[in-house]
Amino acid sequence: MLSSVILMARPSWVKGGPRIVKPIPGPRARKIIARDERVISPSYTRADPLAGEEGWGVYVRDIDGNVFLDLSSGMFVLNYGYSHPALVRAVQQQAAKLAHFAGTDFYYDLQVELAEELVSIAPGRFAKRAFFVNSGAEAIEAAFKCVRWHTRRPRMIAFTGAFHGRTFGAMSLSSSSARHRKFFAPLVPGVSFMPFPYCYRCQFAQSYPSCDFLCVEYIRNSLATTTPAEEVTAVITEPIQGNAGYIIPPPEYYPMIKELCEEHGWLFISDEVQTGLGRSGRMFAIEDWGLTPDIICLAKALAGGMVPMGAMVARADVMNWEPGAHASTFGGNLLACAAALAGLEVLRKQRLVERARKLGRFALAKLQEMAEENQLIGDVRGRGLLLALELVEDREGKRPAVEERDAVVRAALSRGLIVFRGGQSTIRVAPPLIISKRELELGLDLLGQALNEVWKKCR
Ligand SMILES: Cc1ncc(COP(=O)(O)O)c(C=O)c1O
Repeated sequence: MLSSVILMARPSWVKGGPRIVKPIPGPRARKIIARDERVISPSYTRADPLAGEEGWGVYVRDIDGNVFLDLSSGMFVLNYGYSHPALVRAVQQQAAKLAHFAGTDFYYDLQVELAEELVSIAPGRFAKRAFFVNSGAEAIEAAFKCVRWHTRRPRMIAFTGAFHGRTFGAMSLSSSSARHRKFFAPLVPGVSFMPFPYCYRCQFAQSYPSCDFLCVEYIRNSLATTTPAEEVTAVITEPIQGNAGYIIPPPEYYPMIKELCEEHGWLFISDEVQTGLGRSGRMFAIEDWGLTPDIICLAKALAGGMVPMGAMVARADVMNWEPGAHASTFGGNLLACAAALAGLEVLRKQRLVERARKLGRFALAKLQEMAEENQLIGDVRGRGLLLALELVEDREGKRPAVEERDAVVRAALSRGLIVFRGGQSTIRVAPPLIISKRELELGLDLLGQALNEVWKKCR
């Protein structure tokens, strides 16, 4: 069941696994970085000097010949791995046949076919519609506009620590970092931020489950003071907060939020840009709370990283805006649709959702074992192949071990392993869903070595 998923045409450099042949950054990477620094926007936050050249499965080779096992899936995009042959073939064939045809003004089959697929896999036994875009932020913008158009209400409820993207609407709904917002005001007005249930660091200094859900009480109080309930159009949430470091609310939380939605006529938007399409061991992470959202936003893994793509899938009665209300030249482009359809077939045929659930249980247990030995690890979290280690200076005080976390990420890189940062001092582990158990074990061993190296230095 959990043996390797067979991919075609395995390049020779993959044999031998992760290895560093030139110190990072190597001479060729250094040249690219120097040129990049002259002409590319300085707004990107490149923390690690990697210059990629070729990818296959769970491996990526940099321009100097270093080979990395990527437990970040190219920033949570490559659920099907690098260069999955089914997706490559689908894009190549479509490019040769018809690469672009204005989907906003004319029709084509692939867009309808993909919409049919998405509305059938999205939870809820009601009619749904899809709207296609080119990124996660655009999917959020579309949802934001859609709920306003539908309800004519001006306010949104979002959460502390949330990240929904960097365009104006998405940024206005996000609160993960002041750096994302600084000097961009005024933002879209009418967004009320409510405390997210980050139970490891409860904002009310409570402990779950004896906390009486003060975070939900806070929302109720806000309705009586700052946020008139009848002005609220929707609640938007990442079911598991991604950039914040995979924060997983307790099982009771979302049903309580949904109850508030029903009480006040609010819509529920699930931002599944990072969590959707099997990553959490469910097709959509929100399903773990038994909830049916009114709108789901997707991007990242949707077209497997072949072509930029995002989508908003909404209840048909909610997506009732009129012609001209919203559109996108490239949204639902033919190449993106071909890649997404091929990806969904891989997801289904290779039972990747189930695979993520099983491998996730294995990985979570391994990370918990590491935490028994390594005192740097304050908290271990995970659902499916969406896992996190939060590092602390001391387990009592829980002071975020920011420098140590960065040192672990670098120590992992020096062993040929890519993991990614999240939150203040968290390491995110989110491998491609096609990873074999052996590869996952290897990646976690390398991570364990990196953690121990840094922990030894701290003692
Ligand atoms: C949950 C979530 N929503 C939205 C976005 C924005 O996506 P994009 O960068 O494609 O605009 C991201 C990106 O990291 C995300 O993680």
